[in-house]
Amino acid sequence: MAKRRVAILISGRGANMAALIAAANQPDYPAEIAVVLSNRPDAAGLKRAAAEGIATAIVDHARFGRDREAFEQAVQAVLDAHRVEIVCLAGFMRLLTPGLVTRWSGRMLNIHPALLPSFKGLHTHERALAAGVKIHGATVHFVVPDVDSGPIIAQAAVPVLDDDTADALAARVLFAELRIYPLALGLVAAGQSTITAGIVHNTAITTPSAQLIVPDAD
Ligand code: GAR
Repeated sequence: MAKRRVAILISGRGANMAALIAAANQPDYPAEIAVVLSNRPDAAGLKRAAAEGIATAIVDHARFGRDREAFEQAVQAVLDAHRVEIVCLAGFMRLLTPGLVTRWSGRMLNIHPALLPSFKGLHTHERALAAGVKIHGATVHFVVPDVDSGPIIAQAAVPVLDDDTADALAARVLFAELRIYPLALGLVAAGQSTITAGIVHNTAITTPSAQLIVPDAD
């Protein structure tokens, strides 16, 4: 089966991006990374992608001022040029307009560092600690116009320890992110993740142990 062509949109370090690239390097993975795009020219992930031989593009949001539509037209032009079929937001820290999100409906994924629908938005680890939750985690979901609200594809559970700091918890959650994002993209690219009435059905996951993702981060 032909591999689906994927764009990864980043703004920074690119740890999730690197995990997706590593997965896509496997011969039987159903997706290939066509391009990595950053809205920040200095994003460290750009160098990592280039070192892997992946095409990179910069669409610097600062050049567009407040004109979000012009920025997004430039992003879409890159996606078109690389014949992209699926978009993965991976630490992409720009809000997208409903226009672009709707255009990519069911074909745009995001990773969020919390168990949605808890802790939407920023500073998720600080807020999880302040709330005293004992299980935290990460979520991969389809992107919809409402931020951090789309149909959930995969989640991973992460324990919260008594002496955790936000940084320690972030590191444990990131470990989980690196595991579920390749899993979720693989399901979507293989056509094994379908949305019905706002709910994702992962047809390839049929046992509780396949669904319960609890990475051992020790
Ligand atoms: C990741 O933890 C990701 O979940 C988060 O930013 C980090 C990016 O790290 N995304 C968000 O907070 C989106 N709202 P990375 O660039 O090393 O993958």
